[in-house]
Amino acid sequence: RPIFILNGPNLNLLGKRQPEIYGRETLADVEADCRQRAEALGLAIRFHQSNAEHQIIDWIHEAREAGSGIIINPAAFTHTSVAILDALNAFDGPVLEVHISNVHKREAFRHHSYVSLRADGVIAGFGVEGYALAVQRMGTLLATAAG
Ligand code: DQA
Repeated sequence: RPIFILNGPNLNLLGKRQPEIYGRETLADVEADCRQRAEALGLAIRFHQSNAEHQIIDWIHEAREAGSGIIINPAAFTHTSVAILDALNAFDGPVLEVHISNVHKREAFRHHSYVSLRADGVIAGFGVEGYALAVQRMGTLLATAAG
């Protein structure tokens, strides 16, 4: 069963959008890096991005049936979406939350995350390296769960 790596709104603009905050790497670069790292651990991934809340919820529902774990950067929905939290609460496997920027160094409205109420771990402020670290950690969590 694959790991689902889900990305929220505006992350399709990664590399072009506020590069001083989010860096110059694109989401396609992040996907390629995650895929390579996951394969090295013997894991498959499904990598998705959407600007629509319902689409992210539908992918979380898909992960209930077909996924082993979820790595999610909910972007702005982090701070607003009870619906994404509810969907994650209906998922049984490990959930890791990633933010490229250090949300705690930014505006107060970014300091609260609904998703953190469910996440088993949170990475923020490590740039796009946070995704690689999350894949590595997911490998550990899934190996522990299986063993
Ligand atoms: C983000 C942080 C959010 O506050 C913001 O809305 C984003 C990206 C990050 O990866 O740093 O779109 O999740």
